[in-house]
Amino acid sequence: MDEQNPGAAVGTAVASESSAALPKPPEWLANAVIYEIYPQSFADSNGDGIGDLPGVREHLDYLEWLGVDVIWFNPCFASPFRDAGYDVSDYLAIAPRYGTNEDMTALIQEAGKRGIRVLLDLVAGHTSVDHPWFRASMNEESDHRYVWSDRPGDAFVPSPGRRPGWYLKNFFPEQPALNFGYARLAEDEPWRQLTDAAGPQENRAALREIIGYWLDRGVAGFRVDMAFSLVKDDPGLVETTALWRELAVWMKGAYPDAVLLPESDEWRTVDAGARGGFDADFSLVIHEEHSALFNNGGAGLLPWQESTEPCYFDPDADPAEGTLAFGKFLGLWNHHLETNGPDRLVVLPSADHDFSRLACGNRTSGQLPAAFTFLLTWGSIPSIYFGDEIGMRYLEGVPEKEGSIWTPKYNRAGCRTPMQWDNVLANAGFSTAPPDDLYLPLDPDPDRPAVAAQREDPDSLLHFVRSLVQLRKSTPAVGTGTPTRLLAVGYPLVYVRNGTHLVVINPLRRATQVAVELPGGSTARHLIGAGVRIDAGTVYADGFGCGVFELAG
Ligand code: NOJ
Repeated sequence: MDEQNPGAAVGTAVASESSAALPKPPEWLANAVIYEIYPQSFADSNGDGIGDLPGVREHLDYLEWLGVDVIWFNPCFASPFRDAGYDVSDYLAIAPRYGTNEDMTALIQEAGKRGIRVLLDLVAGHTSVDHPWFRASMNEESDHRYVWSDRPGDAFVPSPGRRPGWYLKNFFPEQPALNFGYARLAEDEPWRQLTDAAGPQENRAALREIIGYWLDRGVAGFRVDMAFSLVKDDPGLVETTALWRELAVWMKGAYPDAVLLPESDEWRTVDAGARGGFDADFSLVIHEEHSALFNNGGAGLLPWQESTEPCYFDPDADPAEGTLAFGKFLGLWNHHLETNGPDRLVVLPSADHDFSRLACGNRTSGQLPAAFTFLLTWGSIPSIYFGDEIGMRYLEGVPEKEGSIWTPKYNRAGCRTPMQWDNVLANAGFSTAPPDDLYLPLDPDPDRPAVAAQREDPDSLLHFVRSLVQLRKSTPAVGTGTPTRLLAVGYPLVYVRNGTHLVVINPLRRATQVAVELPGGSTARHLIGAGVRIDAGTVYADGFGCGVFELAG
């Protein structure tokens, strides 16, 4: 980082980098099956009740057995944890409770030996109030790393330091927005700076430093938190897109195989053809009110919801409403393909650390094979939220933890409870700490699912998910980049991937059937799944039935 004159140094690079062509996303990403680890809750190796990196290392064999090949870690950096680590106080240091930077490097190497890459979570838009940059800024009026106003206003928080005024928050008040500039100036907001001002350019340079630091230690790339929040008042996200593009062009030059995956609540259509510098969007559309596939399953209303919308994967869905929900998803999917082209990939998660798990409310474990069949045979990149592969459920009534209460009606702690490894062991094998010291309480259900029991049961959800991952890995036809032809949209859902593989999914509790015309009158050889029969042009699906078939002419 050029501390002397960062604005000038980086500013020069902008023009040439933003016009350079970006390479296609790397093959490894297009073929990836991602596994998200919330580090607090995966495996505790030192008995302090909180998960850590050596704990993850001890379970790499499990991840290799499952077949996933990319781990996405939620932030593991130094933090006061007022938003579970999404409030970083040092981007270049692993939080002591998770281990050391050396532990991360060792984990990356061990994972690499098993063909597993590691993505970190880059919290680009804000820091913690404890970050030294903010500590300096709150006491020094000439500092422009953050956005300071001389008057109160929406999203502005009173200064906690000697500096008078208010700072702009990006999420919780403890998360001050880094100043990446505004897309335009405004007379009534004289504090605004453009993106080429010194403060915003210094922050851009800092992003490069952070990205480079971790890529040099072997990480494969980053999920980018609130990636589209950086430049303020940016209609069409033109300046934000240009910023990421500039960073991506630099990154791809220095680290051709590395990727940037933005958190996204809609598939971005800005900068069509240029991809805005990103390799794939992490889509939340499956959970939100538009085009909901899974929605929040009864865990509570999300900040932007007034009521729960119908979703496709509701076992008791009104078929007309569920079909409409799938149609909305499809509309977005097709729009994305048409606008962004096939090179722009989309990640669809089974769930994540912000939303309810697949098993939640009336969405019981019986439906999960159907849900996973969809995730692993659709043309998006699947991301499995830790524990979903055994059917861990969203827990109601869990105490607030590290900023988990998003709105009074929704507590994220319910999807962040400890991994259930083995019910024979204390704390289900997650930790040797006294139960009261666990990061969050375990599911108290005596029949809670656990890895050990499911590994021994070839008919378990875990084995089914593993088989689907193997199918996905061995069958490019059901992966990204091949066409999907819908034969029936509704219940059951029937589609053909790449002209060769037929997929049938019935998320409903009750049996369904539909008449279809198989391409070229072909026959269907069963590969995986249960409860689906094809007979004389009709697909019959039992309740929660699902299957993948190979078509032969
Ligand atoms: C999105 C993250 O997924 C969420 O967990 C976090 O609270 C906010 N961004 C703020 O960083």
